[in-house]
Amino acid sequence: MNTPGFYDGKTVLLTGASTGIGKALAIKLMHTKCKLVLVARRRELISEFVTSQPKRENLIISGCDVSDKEAVSQLLEEVTQKMGQPDIVILNAGVSLGENMKFG
Ligand SMILES: NC(=O)c1ccc[n+]([C@@H]2O[C@H](COP(=O)([O-])OP(=O)(O)OC[C@H]3O[C@@H](n4cnc5c(N)ncnc54)[C@H](OP(=O)(O)O)[C@@H]3O)[C@@H](O)[C@H]2O)c1
Repeated sequence: MNTPGFYDGKTVLLTGASTGIGKALAIKLMHTKCKLVLVARRRELISEFVTSQPKRENLIISGCDVSDKEAVSQLLEEVTQKMGQPDIVILNAGVSLGENMKFG
């Protein structure tokens, strides 16, 4: 992430971008010159933090549910049409055990 120019012009697709690790990564990526696709079911949460960042071009915000094959196919078609095939895909969407974890 810290190599200057590494993301320039690349298409980066990040799932699970609405909260947690994905949101933090999304904000970092917004400050690079990549073409960025941010995905989470609650797309409104992505829109909220995107508006508080400097305005940028080449951004797709998608409410795609990654467990829905048809929706994923549609998203990939849209991305490929608008930005070319993704160069980097970060499959971060998922469930964290979070506070339910018990040790001992
Ligand atoms: N936090 C940790 O300590 C930890 C440790 C090991 C591994 N991980 C893994 O790291 C990833 C992120 O963790 P986190 O703590 O940042 O979790 P989080 O805050 O719960 O974020 C999960 C993200 O995944 C999205 N998501 C979940 N199901 C989705 C679906 N069907 N379609 C699209 N998006 C979906 C959520 O957005 P929507 O609900 O808006 O769709 C959210 O943006 C997870 O895969 C987790 O298993 C986390």
